Amino acid sequence: MILMLGMALGVAALGMTIVLMRFGQVSQTEPDTQVTETPGAVSETLSENDTVDVYARVDVLPGVPSVAPQTPWLKLDASTTLTRIGVGSCLGQNQPQPVWDSILRLEPRPQLFMMMGDGVYGDIKSADAKELIQAYRDQSVRPELARARQEMPFLATWDDHDYGGNDKGADFEHKETAAKLFHDFWQMKPERPQDQGIYYARTYGVEGKRVQIIMLDTRSFRSDLRKKTNSFKYWGRYEPIGDPDRTMLGKAQWAWLEEQLQEAADVRLIVTSVQLLAGGHGFERWGNLPLERERFFQLIDDTGARGVILLSGDRHNGALYQIELKNGQRLPEMTSSSLNRSYGPSKDAPTPERLSRMYNQENFGILDIDWRLRRISLTLKDIGGEMLDSLTVKFSDLGID
Ligand SMILES: [Fe+2]
Repeated sequence: MILMLGMALGVAALGMTIVLMRFGQVSQTEPDTQVTETPGAVSETLSENDTVDVYARVDVLPGVPSVAPQTPWLKLDASTTLTRIGVGSCLGQNQPQPVWDSILRLEPRPQLFMMMGDGVYGDIKSADAKELIQAYRDQSVRPELARARQEMPFLATWDDHDYGGNDKGADFEHKETAAKLFHDFWQMKPERPQDQGIYYARTYGVEGKRVQIIMLDTRSFRSDLRKKTNSFKYWGRYEPIGDPDRTMLGKAQWAWLEEQLQEAADVRLIVTSVQLLAGGHGFERWGNLPLERERFFQLIDDTGARGVILLSGDRHNGALYQIELKNGQRLPEMTSSSLNRSYGPSKDAPTPERLSRMYNQENFGILDIDWRLRRISLTLKDIGGEMLDSLTVKFSDLGID
């Protein structure tokens, strides 16, 4: 069913297959989430690539015992054909986390859950980073998260509050400490010296059904943003600055991303903690550095990457976005935030790339890949697991042959 509603008018005019649900009075059925594959086996074996020896409980920092949870995070077997992935962000360690119950109750249950930043709130105010250390300790003993950890594999990247400072970027003095704590908590083996970023990629599934997951680091290299002036029309703190010397990813991560986009994959999920497509506000987003945003689009074009879907968090709002690239390929983005820290209503302007309302209560996202019908659904769900909005995109619209 194709609905042309409100802000979706312009998008529908592009002829894409979209289904926007529960927009105002409209109510529809959920997208077909029938799983056509047998979910892959979850391996509890800690593979050398992914993990440190969690049982060693070595000091993560001098004199600081590991902040990792006692029970390990599950790791997803690389041979798994992914059909259902959960996403979310902004998980306070000192508040109840009832959302995990709803996520674990889903049928089918997500084969993987991706934490898209702010996995703890631990802004550092002291020289020894004790706030961030304590935040991880508190999160590691949350019973709700412990249950989720024992039922679903996780992947994670960070945003500002697990990086250790609100809106902080490359100049943040605690970034190496924060990276050590991040890798320790999530039980990941660092892929490079820990002052050089936490970005990484994983690929799951066999040829024809390969899903590549690219976890970006939008913190470690990000240049200063420009504070907004009175002439900037949107709410928030920053305004765009077209300065070629300012970067979102930094030189090494850009080169790495270019290589990753040339790796064999059928679907590519790119997780960026801060929103990439969204306009209409002055909080953190790629649009604050518009040349970097353009560079991203150009890189998709240059590398011929197909099947690209963006996933983001940060905003304490959930919403769905989509643009069309120069080559005609659709580029959707699902923003899901927060898992348990809701703020007031959004005042984002209704810019054309946004397809849905902004939903400011607790939420999570579900990405369903239907390999048989060759389409992907991005669905936002509320704290009870009820659908809010959903976007279905055909493989062909994503450039997948
Ligand atoms: Fe957050």
